[in-house]
Amino acid sequence: MAPSIVSDIELPRDIPESRQSSANVPIEKAFGLNNRTIIITGAGRGLGITLATAVLESGADAVRLDILPEPSAEEWEVITKLQKSTGVRAIYKNCDITNEEAVEKVVADCGEEARQRGKPVKGMISCAGIQQMVDAIDYPMDGFRRIMEVNVTGSFLISKYTARLLRDQKLGGSIVMIASMSGQIANRGLHCSAYNTSKAAVHQMCRSLAYEWGQWGIRVNTLSPGYIRTAMTDGLLQEKPEVEEQWMRGALLGRLGAPEDFKAPCVFLLADGSSWMTGADLRVDGGHCATA
Ligand SMILES: NC(=O)c1ccc[n+]([C@@H]2O[C@H](COP(=O)([O-])OP(=O)(O)OC[C@H]3O[C@@H](n4cnc5c(N)ncnc54)[C@H](O)[C@@H]3O)[C@@H](O)[C@H]2O)c1
Repeated sequence: MAPSIVSDIELPRDIPESRQSSANVPIEKAFGLNNRTIIITGAGRGLGITLATAVLESGADAVRLDILPEPSAEEWEVITKLQKSTGVRAIYKNCDITNEEAVEKVVADCGEEARQRGKPVKGMISCAGIQQMVDAIDYPMDGFRRIMEVNVTGSFLISKYTARLLRDQKLGGSIVMIASMSGQIANRGLHCSAYNTSKAAVHQMCRSLAYEWGQWGIRVNTLSPGYIRTAMTDGLLQEKPEVEEQWMRGALLGRLGAPEDFKAPCVFLLADGSSWMTGADLRVDGGHCATA
């Protein structure tokens, strides 16, 4: 697919199509996701479902994967309305991202179905993740291992099979891994050593995968949220309500994040406008990490 030329600069001829800049398009297209399908894990609820909405609003079909047998009914209704009004497709598939066989099959199915719709898979958001608050000194090893299994191994598996599909399609693509500011800092008031360690691993995985897969035009970046009000943090705040006040002390914009705050940053990382961005982290934290 030749990008439409808006300047008279010629693209180098010796670079395969998957690695040519796709950013040389009018600016509204640089932020759009038309004519493609995006896979999103953890999109049965929380941040993942909001990011799926952003994908649909940007013109792509969204395949939502989650371990939950059914998506959250209320949020699914919003997506159904969006499908009817815009003609994009939202598909929900049950998948445990720690099960390699299941991940391999679901990604292959997504690829084939997307091809048949004429909207090839060109991106993936790895959003599924779990959290646990336990003192490190008493951490039960099965809990520690489960966090690593979902947040690290699961993120790797879905990335690996998406990358195989993108490599074989020869169209390039963008992988966005939802990491966390907790991959770079220890959160005051929270004892979450396994979670924080897992998110640091996601940051390093991103750089390593970006290094290996750039040859096929596959970009890999992380998006690192600060504190967002979702089912995940509601659980933490129910256990330790005093923590919210502590979080608010680092909130330079006077509020915690909402899932909607991540729609535009995530679409930017998926879209052609960020065509020369890979191996990077985009931190969106309301300024939390800017102060000590
Ligand atoms: N909420 C926050 O403050 C915050 C901050 C930074 C990063 N994050 C990250 O954002 C992502 C989404 O978090 P959220 O707050 O929406 O959490 P959430 O618990 O509301 O949603 C996570 C989703 O992942 C799914 N999931 C869990 N294990 C899975 C598995 N094995 N296979 C497939 N799906 C699975 C869950 O069913 C759920 O739908 C996570 O990666 C989380 O670490 C959240």
